[in-house]
Amino acid sequence: SRYKIHTAEEFPELRNDLILQAARGKKTARAPTWIMRQAGRYLPEFRKLRESHSFFEICQTPQLACEITMQPILRYEGLLDASIIFSDILVIPQALGMEVQMLPAQGPHFPAPLESPEDIGRLHKHVDVDEELSYVFRAITLTRHALSGRVPLIGFAGAPWTLFAYMVEGGGSKTFARAKRWLFDWPEASDGVLERITAVLIPYLVGQVRAGAQLLQVFDSWASELSHHHYVRFALPALRRVKEGVHAQCNAEGITTPPLIVFAKNVTHTVLPLLEEIGFDVVGLDWTTAPSEVSNRTSAVQGNFDPSILYASDEAIRSEVKTVANMFKHRNTPGWISNLGHGITPGVKPESVRVFLEAVQECSRE
Ligand code: CP3
Repeated sequence: SRYKIHTAEEFPELRNDLILQAARGKKTARAPTWIMRQAGRYLPEFRKLRESHSFFEICQTPQLACEITMQPILRYEGLLDASIIFSDILVIPQALGMEVQMLPAQGPHFPAPLESPEDIGRLHKHVDVDEELSYVFRAITLTRHALSGRVPLIGFAGAPWTLFAYMVEGGGSKTFARAKRWLFDWPEASDGVLERITAVLIPYLVGQVRAGAQLLQVFDSWASELSHHHYVRFALPALRRVKEGVHAQCNAEGITTPPLIVFAKNVTHTVLPLLEEIGFDVVGLDWTTAPSEVSNRTSAVQGNFDPSILYASDEAIRSEVKTVANMFKHRNTPGWISNLGHGITPGVKPESVRVFLEAVQECSRE
């Protein structure tokens, strides 16, 4: 059965739509801010809840996912302009039938990764997204109510290439030799797996919108691992199908497509224009890329403070925020959404985050 469409009218009225304005290409009085992994291990309240629940148990329990999503919003009341649903990109390989564990110091681990094309047979042929991933949708709907209209809620998914890499490597990797071996030795089978992932991603992202997500972010965390022609040959077409599929399915269902953000980590100036060409509303930048590299064909640029500034003194944080905010004032895009250039890391002091958020509010005024 279909997860029902939740319309704006049934949720509390939105009181801060800065990020939606910026993502739609409007100049805002100040830059809306959120932080990737804002609900994470740097927060003592997160670590406390993790003591009694496993990572995927939290993802699969809407009450817990909602509670964690709300943690940074409540702690930094008035300083964050968006929330992001607590979940993980690896729920898609799980829905395709793969086992994924979250190991304490190591991160994600697949006990049985895809070793060769014969293993494709282990993936579920037909994935009923509304059934398999309804826990994410229920968490989103619940969180929209819990937010009481404070800020918009972002839904997300991993990009096809990044998910493919995890499913083949079985976890993180330094060289991505296995995943790349697939591309070299079995290009058609690789296309097949990318297509299977894409076919689940589209209804999954649209399902999040139906459940109440107001923006969507696609993470291509391993974008920079591929040679340029392989990114063009394998990763980009799949990413384009995701974007176009989400638009087509939203149109078919009579729902407005929300702003789409793409975050491809460490991509060079040669890949950025190609991502822009696909037509994402917002392009996210890691901290190594200058904001001026995103052109005015994109509505907004998102980023890109070096996450490590949060380990510096309060004075240095304020000074760096000022420097970067001045760079963004001369950007090409009409919108700027402030964020870190990567997820916040576990060792950051929550009070340093407050200093950072306050500095952005002050320094990003146009
Ligand atoms: O941003 C948020 O606050 C929303 C939640 C979120 C998580 N993961 C929670 C999480 C989001 C958006 C993600 C995306 C994600 N997951 C990505 C893309 C972004 C990126 O970091 O490049 C990737 C590659 C993953 C896969 C993943 N999940 C990894 C590599 C790890 C381990 C790394 C680490 O930080 O330990 C995770 C675990 C994870 N996902 C944690 C959180 C809060 C920490 C795990 C824990 O609590 O034990």
